[in-house]
Amino acid sequence: MTASLFPRLAEALAISEIDQKIGLTVALAADWQAGKLDWQDTTPLTLTCGRPAKPELVPHKQVLQRNPQTPEGRARLLHAIVHIEFTAINLALDHAARFRGLPRQYYADWIAVAVEEAEHFQLLRQRLQALGHDYGDFPAHASLWDMAEKTEHDVLVRMALVPRLLEARGLDATPPIQKKLAAAGDHESARALDIILRDEIGHVGLGDHWFRYLCSARSLDPEATYRRLLSEFRAPWPQAPMNEAARLAAGFSAGELATLLAEKPAR
Ligand SMILES: [Fe+2]
Ligand SMILES: [Fe+2]
Repeated sequence: MTASLFPRLAEALAISEIDQKIGLTVALAADWQAGKLDWQDTTPLTLTCGRPAKPELVPHKQVLQRNPQTPEGRARLLHAIVHIEFTAINLALDHAARFRGLPRQYYADWIAVAVEEAEHFQLLRQRLQALGHDYGDFPAHASLWDMAEKTEHDVLVRMALVPRLLEARGLDATPPIQKKLAAAGDHESARALDIILRDEIGHVGLGDHWFRYLCSARSLDPEATYRRLLSEFRAPWPQAPMNEAARLAAGFSAGELATLLAEKPAR
């Protein structure tokens, strides 16, 4: 007996309470693994995205600069990453819930990512709690989910601009953050980010894989299409210094990275 996958994804996406969202995500992943969920159902669903009342979401520029040398600055820095991981649970659920008619592996991939993002969230929330804070204590920025909304019309654009652009920026940002945390003596948080960086190479790799798959199905050149989408959506253009090793491991070609740096538009 199989039930439709999509109402289960929609339920996990819609719920606001954190532990329930993680519980529903883990439970649907287990049922998926057991072969109990049907990914071929085409019944339309309305998707809503649930998040707790706190943190307050503010425009990117209003999130305070964080000096990780001070305990408060370090808590703000970790809080920003905890928020990214929480949002990433919803993003992965939405990738799987919103787009139909894709191969079984597409759903398997993003369900597995949702579970990993929940693990990342919990790992970093523990670090934040060790500093005497919790998720919701500081304002957070809304831009990650904004991109989910801008790309909900097309899975090709979603794959390009969420995992292959925004998660790839995380690959670039993580090593410098680890250095700052280690310099402040917080080796445990720096180590937690080692796990996250390793997993995120996988997530960007899945974004790369499905983006290339969709480009090939539509006879589009992936690397030129990517640059076209970055311009069209006025998305944050990748810039130096890049984590080249991580990006190459995730499927970018050296030629594409060089072209991205050379063609960065003046805006
Ligand atoms: Fe993550
Ligand atoms: Fe991720």
